[in-house]
Amino acid sequence: MKFAVFGDIHGNIEALQVAYDAAQQAGAEKIYHLGDLGGYSPFVNEVVDFLVEHAIEGVQGNYDETVANDREHCGCKYEDPIQEEMANKSFFWTKEHASEKAKKYMRGLPVSRSFSAYGDKVLLFHATPSKNNLYWYEDRPEKFFHEMAGKTDADIFIYGHTHKPYRKDIENKIFINAGSVGKPKDGDPRACVTLVDITPDDVQVEFLRVPYDVEKAAQAIVENGMPEYFADRLREAR
Ligand SMILES: [Fe+2]
Repeated sequence: MKFAVFGDIHGNIEALQVAYDAAQQAGAEKIYHLGDLGGYSPFVNEVVDFLVEHAIEGVQGNYDETVANDREHCGCKYEDPIQEEMANKSFFWTKEHASEKAKKYMRGLPVSRSFSAYGDKVLLFHATPSKNNLYWYEDRPEKFFHEMAGKTDADIFIYGHTHKPYRKDIENKIFINAGSVGKPKDGDPRACVTLVDITPDDVQVEFLRVPYDVEKAAQAIVENGMPEYFADRLREAR
């Protein structure tokens, strides 16, 4: 079975549209999203409408949970005070502009989804199996991978949150970070579409990078009254 995974879309409808077309062209039979539907770019309502319209099922990210439940904080991590100030602006902007319909959708998302494929259990979640705002980077020690794997009986783990894609095979487990459709942070501004192809004796993962009009998306951030800071970060993919 071949399916596509859309990590962290973050209000970027331009990127979502091209990601969808690319997944279709690649022959994905199904598409899943990994949550974090709003924030940093303005089109949270359009993103939710698109997912519903195209029957793209997914899981709840920390941003979805905190926006939809009107929390005081998005649960994100900051590297410096400016980033914190900008992140707060983005969070309050999103809470104010997300429609009731979008919030209801985000509130209703499950924290994880699982299915089986040729005897393997596939588990999708936003960040880790037990906490939705922990950053599971590729360079975490192997011990961390074992610890996370030990929380479930899954064989194939698919998640996002860091916006940096990778695949790591440890013993019989496969760990796939699907990167980000709408806000990559790995230096490549193109949308990341993760294709997973599971056959009876193999699991193939491809991180397809899809070009789109990043400049148009960056300008929409500013035009809609969100910080220019995020437009620059979109252009630079950091
Ligand atoms: Fe995110």
